[in-house]
Amino acid sequence: QTERSLVLVKPDGYRRGLTGEVLRRVEAKGYTLVALAVLTPSREQLTTHYAEHEGKPFYEPLLEFMSSGPVTAALIEGHGCIAGFRSLAGATDPTAAAPGTIRGDLGRDWGLAVQQNIVHGSDSPESAARETAIWFPTLG
Ligand code: CMP
Repeated sequence: QTERSLVLVKPDGYRRGLTGEVLRRVEAKGYTLVALAVLTPSREQLTTHYAEHEGKPFYEPLLEFMSSGPVTAALIEGHGCIAGFRSLAGATDPTAAAPGTIRGDLGRDWGLAVQQNIVHGSDSPESAARETAIWFPTLG
């Protein structure tokens, strides 16, 4: 069914000028851009967004990385776009991500405390709704 997914181009992707390339792949796949924003995330946005990871060893480095500069938030829409975008993104670890995916084609291990893996995509309809309220409060 038609659904929406919340996509982030993370600070590494933004800094490397990959926002357009990510959005190009989303549109080439046939998904629609519903909303777009460039912003440097607040601590509150990040603690809410990453609540499930609190206490994990990469949690604090993750918050530091994610607040290190602008991200592009995109609300995308299409049949099956939640699983579809995760498929476009590829595996969390860019070294393992298959060629043809965003992380497989454009990402690598930089030897840092956090996987700087270019993009985030919602993992379920519940996550998409929760994350939309964080990044697009007027649409949530
Ligand atoms: P994301 O899908 O946005 O959600 C959690 C993020 O934490 C993930 O992308 C990576 O950026 C990072 N991450 C997940 N697992 C690890 C890990 N084992 N080591 C370092 N960073 C991780």
